[in-house]
Amino acid sequence: MTDLFDDLPPVPDDAYTPIAPGAVLLRGFGRGDDADLLRAVETVVTQAPLRHMQTPGGYTMSVAMTSCGSLGWVSDLQGYRYAARDPFSGQSWPAMPDCLLALAQRAAAQAGYAHFEPEACLINQYVPGAKLSLHQDKDEQDLSAPIISLSLGLPAVFLFGTPSRKDRPQRWRLVHGDVVVWGGPSRLAYHGVQPLADGEHVQLGRRRLNLTFRRVRV
Ligand code: SIN
Ligand code: FE2
Repeated sequence: MTDLFDDLPPVPDDAYTPIAPGAVLLRGFGRGDDADLLRAVETVVTQAPLRHMQTPGGYTMSVAMTSCGSLGWVSDLQGYRYAARDPFSGQSWPAMPDCLLALAQRAAAQAGYAHFEPEACLINQYVPGAKLSLHQDKDEQDLSAPIISLSLGLPAVFLFGTPSRKDRPQRWRLVHGDVVVWGGPSRLAYHGVQPLADGEHVQLGRRRLNLTFRRVRV
């Protein structure tokens, strides 16, 4: 049997997967643009290199981080905060490349969050074994805006719970190009990343990059 739609590619029905109230997994959302996105990340990283920051408790994070946008997220013995300058160089953070901003805005809209204007994009690099413990993203003043998260490179197990630390998080496998959006009732949900399994990604080699876009100021 044939019909009018036979020449359209199949739309997998799990491409839009609600994972919690106000939170959606958009599988493959960034895949089509991945070459541009990766080039943009490389440009940022040459200006503001990835670095392992200290936690306020004095531990060195296994994830290497940097930022772009008018604000960047920083951690040191004084605490977690957003800053207009990269503490390593004293310079402003690199501007947020247009293709990254556009992707974040499209993903936010797709998940039901219109008019998303992030000031910060935090870039996380995981090598095998690197992990991110369960935490809430709560250093932003504007909790009405969602967090947009783009995964590139090696797959990871993403833990996503609720705003209560007592609730056991669900586990989601995130692969290259996947986007997760969390806002509304899930804006302060606990989340984290299990230790990265070893592997080789065709474009990124033995690493995973994650970009999170954040609206900081009200
Ligand atoms: C984060 O919570 O900042 C990053 C999450 C991820 O790497 O998927
Ligand atoms: Fe986070």
